[in-house]
Amino acid sequence: MKVVVAGGSGFIGRRLARRLVDRGDHVTILTRNPDRPAEEGLKWAAYGDGPFDADVVVNLAGENLFGKRWSQKQKAVMRKSRVDQTAALVARMASEPRPKVLVQASAIGFYGDRGDEMLDEASKPGAAGVFLTDVCRDWEMAARAANDYGVRVVLLRIGVVLGPEGGAVKAMGTPFRFFAGGPVGSGRQWMSWVHAEDLVGLVLHCVDNEDTSGPINGAAPNPERMNAFCKALGRAMGRPSWLPVPGFVLRVMLGEVATVLLGSQRVLPKHAEVSGFVFRHPDLGEALKDLLGR
Ligand SMILES: NC(=O)c1ccc[n+]([C@@H]2O[C@H](COP(=O)([O-])OP(=O)(O)OC[C@H]3O[C@@H](n4cnc5c(N)ncnc54)[C@H](OP(=O)(O)O)[C@@H]3O)[C@@H](O)[C@H]2O)c1
Repeated sequence: MKVVVAGGSGFIGRRLARRLVDRGDHVTILTRNPDRPAEEGLKWAAYGDGPFDADVVVNLAGENLFGKRWSQKQKAVMRKSRVDQTAALVARMASEPRPKVLVQASAIGFYGDRGDEMLDEASKPGAAGVFLTDVCRDWEMAARAANDYGVRVVLLRIGVVLGPEGGAVKAMGTPFRFFAGGPVGSGRQWMSWVHAEDLVGLVLHCVDNEDTSGPINGAAPNPERMNAFCKALGRAMGRPSWLPVPGFVLRVMLGEVATVLLGSQRVLPKHAEVSGFVFRHPDLGEALKDLLGR
């Protein structure tokens, strides 16, 4: 298949591109910096306009949430790189040839801060007025517009992705390496995590499975509370988890982005499981061992 991956140069995209190329698909990564050497089965391209000559479009683009403090200006960049960019991709699907499917990244931030409530794809969005919840809702709405052109749309609500070379393990693992790791906030908030390999597997499952459409949670079946997550991370790294960082300190240190770490989302991958997807790493301790043991 011909697969276009917008934002495919990042943490998730590079892994996805590798898997697609390995199985014989032809991948074009859309990027703001297309001057990169092509590899076998993979080329780089600027965003451009006009219809897509592709069977599949996967959209992973988005300004990193943890890169900078959330000023009004930075929030506008984070929003535009998701909502406006998705709308621009969908506009290109207005005329033939069209892709059969759009697999669109969204995030579990869609659900907001929900305490111990179990959340599946039928759960309501979080309260309006919370930045990330609003962005996820509008991001999904922009992608859904492709339905009008007969394109199958999958909305992947991604949890905290764990990979060896980036993401949460790297960010949270660094203080642990220096014996200074521990939970943030009350530690009772739920963290819905997913092994990067499973997330990429789920994207492929959504691409290949024509019955899959609409929202699908990209989170492992066993979410953990922050306390348990940090204990497991400490154990996997051979370090103690002992230095809790209170929520108010985190808010002062990081600003509004702290809401991402302090909010609670107990997300279950109901749609993925019903559609026959099997998680290879359903258990956090094993997943961390797999990632850190490499
Ligand atoms: N990783 C996670 O734990 C996680 C969790 C939930 C949701 N997600 C969502 O899943 C998607 C992929 O995640 P990821 O971790 O792979 O992301 P990432 O590595 O931070 O970034 C993905 C790509 O987005 C493009 N990008 C960055 N800033 C941009 C901007 N201002 N305008 C346009 N494009 C921009 C970049 O491509 P170029 O520089 O090549 O243009 C980058 O490689 C993101 O939208 C993210 O919000 C991720």
